[in-house]
Amino acid sequence: MQVGILTGGGDCPGLNAVIRAVVRRITNAGGHCVGVMEGWRGMIEDITEPLDAYDTDDLIARGGTILGSSRTNPFKSPANVEKVKATFKRHRLDGLVAIGGEDTLGVAHKMHAEEGLPTVGVPKTIDNDLSATDFTFGFDTAINIVVEAVDRLRTTAESHRRIMVVETMGRHAGWIACLSGIAVGADYILIPEQPINFDHLCKVLKERRETGRMYSIVVTSEGAQFPEAGAVTTDANIDEFGHVKLGGIGEVIAGMLERRLNLETRHVTLGHLQRGGPPSAYDRVLATRFGLKAAELVLKGQFGRMAALTGNDITSAPLAEAVIAQKRLDLKYYEEAQEWFMGAVRRER
Ligand code: F6P
Repeated sequence: MQVGILTGGGDCPGLNAVIRAVVRRITNAGGHCVGVMEGWRGMIEDITEPLDAYDTDDLIARGGTILGSSRTNPFKSPANVEKVKATFKRHRLDGLVAIGGEDTLGVAHKMHAEEGLPTVGVPKTIDNDLSATDFTFGFDTAINIVVEAVDRLRTTAESHRRIMVVETMGRHAGWIACLSGIAVGADYILIPEQPINFDHLCKVLKERRETGRMYSIVVTSEGAQFPEAGAVTTDANIDEFGHVKLGGIGEVIAGMLERRLNLETRHVTLGHLQRGGPPSAYDRVLATRFGLKAAELVLKGQFGRMAALTGNDITSAPLAEAVIAQKRLDLKYYEEAQEWFMGAVRRER
């Protein structure tokens, strides 16, 4: 049995741990693996490297992806779809494990549903915005990086009596901002799922100052936006899957706060720091379990499916379900976070 593995879309911590687990399970079952370089581009251009259990054994702690990644969409051109099929044939692949988010897995789904190729998926993204799985690997590491950063920003904000606006990634889903915001005890959290209420934000920060809290932490998702305004972008060009580059809302909010409240304000955009470095223990375990499951799906011939997390169990779901709609933040988390920005607290004694 010959199994291809590719990683597509934005990289994230845990990709190498998935590769390691797929290779180990397939090799233990007597099969062989081939690494497809740079996502779907590798399938179009036939760029591959053999992968074995010995060489992948030490990968569990390594961030990024040894296979490289790209945001290539073969369905942009029928000729490229044919090239993908030709690469499949040339390498006599019995299965292809695509590790990616909605775009990479969307291609894997179409390759299976429309072209009959034996693909399976593994849900990856720091954004946690994939349907059909409770969590994706990479997300836990990303929120831990935000927590570490904000814990550091808090001490300097406090020393200088400043407002610190921290912008996280997450695209059009508020998972990173909301869950990291809860974890750092943010004084306000802005998410794409709720239009920004600037007056309310100012009221909360002002009251906080009036009750003696001399600094504040605001966590904003890069996709947060004002009512009726579009998301703030750094580049209006769209990628092959139709996405613009988000970013800049933190700076906008910081400027507005400084002007309205007349309080010194700074902003920090955490950006790609959230995707770099070694995976957290949780992500290493999740990625390993996902990789083993994906290999199992291939070995059992259950194509067109994705490894998934349901509660604490590793399950599988149709790729079609995973890519049908983006999973926005479950607002129960935001309601819980809001307990801390309903108004300032005063000392009771
Ligand atoms: O989807 C992951 C992600 O990191 C998003 O949170 C972010 O908007 C985007 O990718 C950034 O993409 P790039 O690496 O192309 O700048």
